[in-house]
Amino acid sequence: MKKIAVLVSGRGSNMLALIDACEQGTLAASIELVISNNADSLALLSAQKKNINTAHLSSRTHPDPDALDIAMKDLLDSYKIDFILLAGFMKKIGPKTLSAYKGRMINIHPSLLPKFGGQGMFGLNVHEAVIEAGEKETGVTIHMVDGEYDKGAILAQRTVVIAKDDTPESLAAKVLQVEHVLFAETIQKIIDGSIILPAN
Ligand code: GRF
Repeated sequence: MKKIAVLVSGRGSNMLALIDACEQGTLAASIELVISNNADSLALLSAQKKNINTAHLSSRTHPDPDALDIAMKDLLDSYKIDFILLAGFMKKIGPKTLSAYKGRMINIHPSLLPKFGGQGMFGLNVHEAVIEAGEKETGVTIHMVDGEYDKGAILAQRTVVIAKDDTPESLAAKVLQVEHVLFAETIQKIIDGSIILPAN
């Protein structure tokens, strides 16, 4: 059974969808560890309620960035993690962790990358920009994590049609529903070999 760590910062709805998929058996993995840079994140609380190991790692616990990087890598190593999934994690991954888990770190982004990605493109900002640009469709991207925001190889995408009366909030809700399905589906395809991860 593959061991998964989920990195979160806020609400944790994608994390909960992944936990559900594991519980239902549609994702042949177990969520062994949830790490957040935000000690008060709802995601940490939800994971604790499900008896999943959690950790708060941030500049508050480790003011020195290199020490934080080493602490994250050591914690992941100690749980013998196979894949790291970023689900709303807002911080850059340190170089030691990134190289130790190169090719096994995956992010979800609420747009059709490369459009509407990169620094500052998170949360409602994405959906506001998509509507502002007059796009007819948006969607979800699952991609490899490399050193840059939202730049890694794309593993899966699914489109969401934008209705004339969509607001950033209504669009965010539609996209989030697709996220909750596509993330677990894509990780399962990696586990069963129907998606081959790039050598990176
Ligand atoms: C999601 O929209 C995800 O695509 C993005 O951050 C958001 C996290 O939401 N990376 P949640 O914490 O999983 O509810």
